[in-house]
Amino acid sequence: MCGIVGYIGSREATPVLLDGLKRLEYRGYDSAGIATVSDGINIIKAVGRIAALEKKLLDNSLFGTVGIAHTRWATHGEPSEVNAHPHTDSEGNIAIAHNGIIENYRSLKQLLQKEGHTFRSATDTEVIAHLIERYYEGRDFEIAVQKALAQLEGTYGLVAICTKEPKKLVVARNGSPIVIGVAQGEFFVASDAAALLPYTRNVVYLEDGEMAVVTKDGYRTMTLDNKDVKKEVEKITWDLEMIEKGGFPHFMLKEIYEQPQSIRNLLGGKIKKNETDVRMRCLQNGFPEHVSRIDAIKILACGTSWHAGLVGAFLMEKLLKVPVTCEQASEFRYRQPVMVPNSLAVSVSQSGETADTKGAAQLAKKLGAYSMGIVNVVGSTIARMVDGGVYLHAGPEIGVASTKAFSSQVVAFSLLNLGLSHFMDQRQPLADGTKRIPDKDALKIVHELLSLPEKIERVLQTVYHKDTGDGIVQQIAREYKNTNNFLYLGRGYNYPIALEGALKLKEISYIHAEGYSAAEMKHGPIALIDRNMPVVIIAPHDSEEPESYKKIASNAEEVRARGGRIIAVVNEGDDEISKMAEWVIEVPNTLAHLVPVLATVPLQLLAYEIAVLRGHDPDKPRNLAKSVTVE
Ligand code: F6R
Repeated sequence: MCGIVGYIGSREATPVLLDGLKRLEYRGYDSAGIATVSDGINIIKAVGRIAALEKKLLDNSLFGTVGIAHTRWATHGEPSEVNAHPHTDSEGNIAIAHNGIIENYRSLKQLLQKEGHTFRSATDTEVIAHLIERYYEGRDFEIAVQKALAQLEGTYGLVAICTKEPKKLVVARNGSPIVIGVAQGEFFVASDAAALLPYTRNVVYLEDGEMAVVTKDGYRTMTLDNKDVKKEVEKITWDLEMIEKGGFPHFMLKEIYEQPQSIRNLLGGKIKKNETDVRMRCLQNGFPEHVSRIDAIKILACGTSWHAGLVGAFLMEKLLKVPVTCEQASEFRYRQPVMVPNSLAVSVSQSGETADTKGAAQLAKKLGAYSMGIVNVVGSTIARMVDGGVYLHAGPEIGVASTKAFSSQVVAFSLLNLGLSHFMDQRQPLADGTKRIPDKDALKIVHELLSLPEKIERVLQTVYHKDTGDGIVQQIAREYKNTNNFLYLGRGYNYPIALEGALKLKEISYIHAEGYSAAEMKHGPIALIDRNMPVVIIAPHDSEEPESYKKIASNAEEVRARGGRIIAVVNEGDDEISKMAEWVIEVPNTLAHLVPVLATVPLQLLAYEIAVLRGHDPDKPRNLAKSVTVE
């Protein structure tokens, strides 16, 4: 995720800024840049590691005691020098480093271009610099920043400098953290306290809707509409490692807890309450004329991304009314597959670098499919290879076991499905003239998508108690940490969740686990069940298909009759399957195809907790790499 550092004081800013950037490296980034003010604003940027930026600085020194710096994790525009921060206005008098996503940047950019502003990058951030320029009247830089921020929809944590008021840093926060480090005669700014630690432990945290003007002699904190706010100086007691992990013991746990935010990032600007439209660039202007219809969809992915793809396939086939299959990319690419004419291939990959998914996407394209991607890492190979697609904006996933990318992928399928249904209704209307997703259903999907982040927060609060360790998931983990086998069962949309729950447990705790369709159990695996076998049954109510709940209730009966120890993941208030279960994990109600997002969270936590209790490092499971770039 992007990182911000700022400095104002009496030392040369560049070494302090570089040092701060290095301390933010753990967050992941693809490019970096520094700007200082002395005679004007001078900027150096580099793609790749901080070391590359450092090398450039050897040849082009940047002088000045005021400066800002940034590590970028691309969201809008590929990783490149021109897209790296800091960004400037047309005249180069204002520079800005920004974290977050500006949702209305396209309309603002058009407006500013009409007014004569010249843009250089493909980023959303650059509009902020130009907007500040638009409002700047030669004094009170912070007022221009306030006016600019009032035009923005989206999230930001930012720091800005200006040549005309060179002894000031202006910082602001709305949805993306900013902390000010307080020291004697010098001040620091960062998006993450890790960057400040060597210099000071005294900090002021800005809240959303707050900003500050920082000079070398002090700072003033205020609201975004210029009312003074009094802030306490707090003392950091954490060490560097704890800060990197945001206070969590492992990246995996941190990333599980980031899921409400990563889903907000994905939804931001794409859907709005009470509207059925989906604003996705890949659909608005992505489909070329020759793609006149879609007669079949093939989803291609590996591992956890394949599980998300299975959920997507079930959903798309049901609502779009064309055949949809989800294939393991590694199998697809080596078995001479047939693609029917007018096929759409959707490749799903967190890293965008998985060799098999890449190979499968290439093959699908060669066989004539129009290709799309659902990818997290901007500018990755798969993202560049496909004809269009959706970025997850989940931020870097550092834990090897994929968590937040999975939930975002499931949500991305829901969005894509809504968008494709509009497209297909126009280009290939159904014979009876009905819409694939009637407006009232689309509104319901939009409503449920928007409430998902809060529901995930509820799951996190109820099932896992970070401070006391007595959450239901932690109790279950203690009970079963020494077991040798686990069975996970689900039907319909929850069958892939059974697979995902089992995969998470296998890969980080090294316990053998099987994920199975509950319906298939009687064809074999039922023989495994005895009183030593914990069986996780994923069975939230499916109001659209009530039969499915009844069926899985019968499967639960079968497990219980054979002595299996049931851990049930059910809806709040469930009174049937939960009566058969030894342990009950409740998740809030939602639409059937979004249940996987909520039901996966406790299973991620269960795998995590068991791994830790068994003494394993969940962030670095044995034999696994984060990105499988070999076949
Ligand atoms: C499991 C896991 C892997 C990946 C798989 C595909 O937790 O992380 O199964 O999902 O290697 O990786 P991406 O999504 O990067 O293509």
